[in-house]
Amino acid sequence: MSQAASPTVYKPEQLDIHFSEAQIQQRIQEMAGQINETYAGCDKLIIVAVLKGSFMFVADLIRHIKIPCQIEFVRLASYGNGQVSSGSVKPVDLSLPSLSGENVLIVEDIIDTGLTLHFFMDYVKSLHHTQSLRLAVLLDKKEARQNEVQVDFSGFTVGNQFLVGYGLDYAGYYRNLPYIGVVRDAGQFTEG
Ligand code: IMP
Ligand code: MG
Repeated sequence: MSQAASPTVYKPEQLDIHFSEAQIQQRIQEMAGQINETYAGCDKLIIVAVLKGSFMFVADLIRHIKIPCQIEFVRLASYGNGQVSSGSVKPVDLSLPSLSGENVLIVEDIIDTGLTLHFFMDYVKSLHHTQSLRLAVLLDKKEARQNEVQVDFSGFTVGNQFLVGYGLDYAGYYRNLPYIGVVRDAGQFTEG
């Protein structure tokens, strides 16, 4: 009986650090400043974070948000091969309260082809008449975009390379790293 080959697991010390913990935290403070300015005068903001990848980013971002806010989570998974994003989105948990009449900020770790966020933004728009709907991403792989998505707040523009750490995984690993590193020859995306 044949067994599936286990993915090569890269050790953190084998990664090239692309964004240090300090760089990430500095940029997040700047992004929060832009968000606070944009929503100044609003009495409430609903932040919807897309799991799994955004858990660390949203946790750090919201510490700097001055507008009274509620935090909601949805979970989407993407699958595919190689160092390019997958061709399908699997909604795992899309349960949300009514967002009608609310200022809504979607928070995601990384936008690549744009498929995931194109799907999710359309989903929200089709179900909820929000007062406003914006998107914050920590990382934007602009060159890889195949689906039009408006990014309102962006942390860093990155090239077409596979990144891990700070919420981003390779085969489920590396999400816990406080920095973002580059993996070469990554075999397969897992999820979220
Ligand atoms: P998109 O649908 O092609 O925009 O891809 C979005 C999803 O693919 C992200 O939410 C991540 O889960 C995953 N992804 C894209 N690029 C990377 C990467 O460099 N490292 C880890 N995950 C990634
Ligand atoms: Mg993600």
